[in-house]
Amino acid sequence: MHLIICDSRQDATARTVAMMAATVADKPDAVLGLATGGTMEKVYAGLIAAHRRGLSFADVTSFNLDEYVGLAPDHPQSYRRYMQRHLFDHLDIDPARTFIPRGDAEPEKAAADFEARIAAHGPIDLQLLGLGRNGHIGFNEPGSSLRSRTREKVLTRSTRQANARFFDNGEEPPQTAVTMGIGTIMDASAIVLLALGEAKAEAVARAVEGSVTAMCPGSVLQFHTDVTVIVDTAAAQALQMGEHYREVERIRAARLTSRSP
Ligand code: F6R
Repeated sequence: MHLIICDSRQDATARTVAMMAATVADKPDAVLGLATGGTMEKVYAGLIAAHRRGLSFADVTSFNLDEYVGLAPDHPQSYRRYMQRHLFDHLDIDPARTFIPRGDAEPEKAAADFEARIAAHGPIDLQLLGLGRNGHIGFNEPGSSLRSRTREKVLTRSTRQANARFFDNGEEPPQTAVTMGIGTIMDASAIVLLALGEAKAEAVARAVEGSVTAMCPGSVLQFHTDVTVIVDTAAAQALQMGEHYREVERIRAARLTSRSP
């Protein structure tokens, strides 16, 4: 696991954007795994800026982690609408190659269709992840099977409360979502997780330095061979080895500089 502690939210977001943009620049037909939520809004703004500077997404395929069950794609709080608003509408990406589980389909069918699409187009080259305060990745809540595939999951009360802020008209977040499974996420060739702010500090420490346990789904990333975790100082504050990760990063950066022409 490669841990990068950045001085600010802006730096952490920019590092994440740079990784994603480099993936597309190196492989124009890259398959990206995408996430939603507050943390990702600025990441997508950064990708839009990269596109305006000339990066094309015309041959990219994308898979989103999850969608609320019961919300049609045109529902204002659906993750399809979120992705259109924050990213897809501003890129040259082919809409037919942006895949999100269908919230208005029968959940078992939506999940099976989604897995079949990943099997057809995958593997995912780079999967972007956020981290829930309870350690969830995608909507794999604590207790999720560490080898799960895409399926319907009941959201915890804390997740529904955290996401209620996006439902501004008195509507409550749905009780369930179809989410990529933990096993599905782990099939990605590379993973980048971005977590920002003090509220994520405990979850970051559990995911990075705690035991691997279904009670903290993010901890399973310790079993992946190509994971980068990017945090700001606030989200890093509960890490026991914070100074060591900073030192590792300094050495890496120095080596990269000395090798560059
Ligand atoms: C949603 C998703 C979730 C979020 C997580 C953090 O697609 O994957 O795991 O990444 O709930 O959300 P924010 O960024 O709103 O704190």
